[in-house]
Amino acid sequence: MAQHDTTHRPATRGILLAGGSGTRLHPMTLAVSKQLLPVYDKPMIYYPLCTLMMAGIRDIMIISTPQDLPQFQRLLGDGAQLGVRFAYRVQPRPDGIAQAFLIAGDWLADAPCALVLGDNLIFADHLPAMLRKAAERTHGATVFAYQVRDPERYGVVTFARDGAALDILEKPVPAPSNWAVTGLYFYDGRVRELAAGLRPSARGELEITDLNRIYLAENALHVERLGRGCAWLDAGMPDSLMLAGSFVQTVQARQGMLVGSPEEAAFLMGYIDAAQLRALAGRMGRTELGRTLMAIADGATPTPAP
Ligand code: DAU
Repeated sequence: MAQHDTTHRPATRGILLAGGSGTRLHPMTLAVSKQLLPVYDKPMIYYPLCTLMMAGIRDIMIISTPQDLPQFQRLLGDGAQLGVRFAYRVQPRPDGIAQAFLIAGDWLADAPCALVLGDNLIFADHLPAMLRKAAERTHGATVFAYQVRDPERYGVVTFARDGAALDILEKPVPAPSNWAVTGLYFYDGRVRELAAGLRPSARGELEITDLNRIYLAENALHVERLGRGCAWLDAGMPDSLMLAGSFVQTVQARQGMLVGSPEEAAFLMGYIDAAQLRALAGRMGRTELGRTLMAIADGATPTPAP
């Protein structure tokens, strides 16, 4: 097993998994990738992309189906315009979320890694600080838990009285708690090696929950609970897609702040300067989004602390 030199630790890399067949959104996803569908005024993938960028991650691999990957490349390019680096790889079949670490294998090497699902939207004021803490952890894994009404649809975590995570199960019926595991995960440099040891589950997939259970068994799984001030939405079904769009519209209209703009994230993180942001805003034509980005570049709009 790889040993970690904490002084010369490679920077955390990010994987954005945007494959799958999107069957729960048919017919909308018959010809278009789910993660390219609009969530109010942006393509869905922008939101999880911002999550990775806000964690301070600048090397990001986008994984999708053979037919959809070229569209993501067309949308995002090589990342230079955002001051980051995008790499692209195909997942031939949806053989499980944990397969992402095998697909990214040589690119990942022994770097720590964050994985985000392309249909997961997480919003919270204190999120950037929380993400950076997770990205800086040198040992173990970090996942985020959120209370939901329908935990049977997700990975579910149970806690001991002292708050320590006791168990984590994939779609248990009945669910032993209402704490769902979100689609954002941080792992140390052993993740590739551990993922290589996984075997397909009964449904034929390399399960992310099985990987998390390995860390849990080692007492190395940190579970951060997201509270009331956070919103976690997975936009994988018509209702949740609609809900996510309404949420973004409400926050943007009311506060004049952007949600899920990689251009703004790049600026706030210092990856690009005001002139570069202005150029990106200019390319958006006369959209409200373009106008807001221009105002941010001019320092006229209040921006949240990164
Ligand atoms: O959203 C969080 C949940 O995501 C977690 O609570 C669960 O533990 C985790 O298993 C996963 O559950 P889902 O049932 O939502 O997984 P689904 O198969 O829908 O895949 C989630 C996203 O990942 C979806 O947008 C498609 C993409 N995906 C999935 C698989 C299995 C891929 O790109 N490739 C794959 O092989």
